[in-house]
Amino acid sequence: MRLPRSVETADVEGQRVLVRADLNVPLDGGEIADDTRIRAAIPTIQLLLDRGAAAVTVCSHLGRPKNEEDRGTYAIAPVERRLRQLVPDERLRVLENTRFNPGETNNDEGYARALADGNELYVNDAFGSAHRAHSSTEAVAHLLPAYAGLLLLAELDHLGRLLGEVERPFVLIAGGAKVDDKLAVLENLGGRADRVLIGGKMAEQVREHNPLSFAVELPVDVVAAAEFAENAEAHAAPVDEIPAGWLGLDIGPSTAEAFGAIIRKARTIFWNGPMGVFEWSRFAAGTRAIAEAVAAADAYAVVGGGDSVRAIKELGLAESVSWVSTGGGASLELLEGKELPGVAAIPTA
Ligand code: 3PG
Ligand code: MG
Repeated sequence: MRLPRSVETADVEGQRVLVRADLNVPLDGGEIADDTRIRAAIPTIQLLLDRGAAAVTVCSHLGRPKNEEDRGTYAIAPVERRLRQLVPDERLRVLENTRFNPGETNNDEGYARALADGNELYVNDAFGSAHRAHSSTEAVAHLLPAYAGLLLLAELDHLGRLLGEVERPFVLIAGGAKVDDKLAVLENLGGRADRVLIGGKMAEQVREHNPLSFAVELPVDVVAAAEFAENAEAHAAPVDEIPAGWLGLDIGPSTAEAFGAIIRKARTIFWNGPMGVFEWSRFAAGTRAIAEAVAAADAYAVVGGGDSVRAIKELGLAESVSWVSTGGGASLELLEGKELPGVAAIPTA
């Protein structure tokens, strides 16, 4: 894989540095629901401050603001407050949500110039946004000497290992609802895996018509529910005995056991997507069983994608896996074998 040059090689003393981070955190009633991405941005910011940067100006998008009203909802202020609590340094500046400028998502050069203005170096640490060719991730990298931040490099390193020689068995676990987003990744990575386990809504679709060029393991039973509701009438059933009109909202206990046994023997694992509607406790057992097996395996285990990351964190198992990616779409596009525009714009090491 092509590796961009590291911020560690930059001469930052006395320089004014623009940092693009991915501080796009989930918000709940104006509060930060999970500050993982803010914490993950700190090592690069701290490195710049420790090495004597004159100013460190951080920018990020937050949400997908569409109109004037969204300016209240997606103002950067709560993110800035949290970042300042974690890094109290008067050289730190935080710009307003980059997506409040209409040029941002068009990769507009004018907006990129405004971002670059007054800065002497550019550091991109926003792995989660590296699949976007936007002014703050792409165009600006051509206007200032550009470097990759520590998180961006760590993500490329950890995810990149899955694309190279891996220890076997290599088990790929896919789930979740965004089937179309994920089939391309499955096609690229799945053929290299020894076992491909599919759960969640994706399993239903693949069972009907398998568009993949290799064999996959599908659930033998599900937790079937009479309707899509948290308190729906529900019971475990073999897949060929699901009552007509009922929905599979989790993998069943036999599947959880079978998948778990395969996962525990793996030496390399990539897991993306929950096995069911794990936000509802009655349909969470399958995802929990998978998370526990992934954590228990003596394997190089990577978890990517918003929902499976949330599941592994809520279960307190994040410390038991090798890498939890901060990128959703970005990690998938990387594993699809695509070049990420935010990475491509930075000169190589
Ligand atoms: C993400 O949350 O996956 C990144 O921050 C990118 O956000 P976007 O999908 O709105 O570009
Ligand atoms: Mg996502």
